[in-house]
Parts: sequence; structure tokens; C-alpha cells
Amino acid sequence: MTAREDFVARFGGVFEHSPFIAERAYDAGLLFVPLRADGVHQALVSIFRKASREERLGVLRAHPDLAGRLAIAGELTEESRNEQAGAGLDRLTPEEHARFTKLNDTYTQKFGFPFIIAVRGLNKADILAAFEERIHNSPEAEFETATAQVERIAALRLATLLPEG
Ligand code: GUN
Repeated sequence: MTAREDFVARFGGVFEHSPFIAERAYDAGLLFVPLRADGVHQALVSIFRKASREERLGVLRAHPDLAGRLAIAGELTEESRNEQAGAGLDRLTPEEHARFTKLNDTYTQKFGFPFIIAVRGLNKADILAAFEERIHNSPEAEFETATAQVERIAALRLATLLPEG
């Protein structure tokens, strides 16, 4: 395995299903050894922000619905599964599940990408409250909020991958 392949294998999933971010950061010479969580975050975020609008939309669209079909089928990435379980989204009552399904459908129809929120430290009620509020945002405001949440999820994933800082 080349050093590039090794880097992409380790960090390609920090932005959900979007290894192109890690590949471009590596190729741009933005990484410095020893790798530290905040340095890798800065490098990946700078690439994400320089990506085209269409590419950023693709990153948003690569996220699974919270408590959605993929979660039920056990087909999430390990990161997404852990995040959703940490917030209790793998243990919903049928009523809560129906509420998520309805919100997911309405949100995705309105914005063209799934509802994304960095769930660390949040519980079901917090997430549902944010969902009910954000669904009323304008498309442009919500695109900005979703991209900021993706950057925060990346920071949390990197803190797990590089816990020494
Ligand atoms: N917030 C944290 N992880 C995820 C995820 O995998 N999907 C969505 N939609 N939001 C998230």
C-alpha cells in the first residue's frame, strides 16, 4: 500500500462516502506528519470548501437518512451507525420512527439532500426539535447549515481516529 492509499483508507470516510476529499488533500500536500486531528481537519475542510457546489451537494447527498431505511437494513458506515446509536436513534418507538420518516421525506423533498446534524451530545428530543425548526429554513440557509454540520461531523470523526490530538 502506498502512503497515499494508506491515508485515503484511514481518512476517506471522514466526509461520508467521499474519499475524493482525502485524495485531493493528500495530493495538494496539505498533510503534515505527525498527523493531528485539527491539522487533518483543516486540510480536509479547505478542500471541501473549494469543491464545486455540485460536489458539495454530492457530499450532502451521500449521507443516509437518520433512522432511515439503511439504518434498519444494517447498511450504514461504521461511523454513521455509531453516531446514530449514540443518540438513541437505533431505539425509537414506532411513533418516533414514524415522525422521523415523515420529517425525512418532507425535508429531502424540500431541500434535495437529507437532514444532517452532528448528533454527538444530542438526544432524540434535541434532534427532533432541530429537525422541526430547520425544515422551515430557506434552501440557501439550509445548504449552509448542512455543510457546517458536515464539517463538525468530520471534526468528531477525526477526534475518534486521532485521539491523541
Ligand atoms: N449526523 C451524524 N451522522 C449522520 C449521518 O450519517 N447522517 C445524517 N443524516 N446525519 C448525521
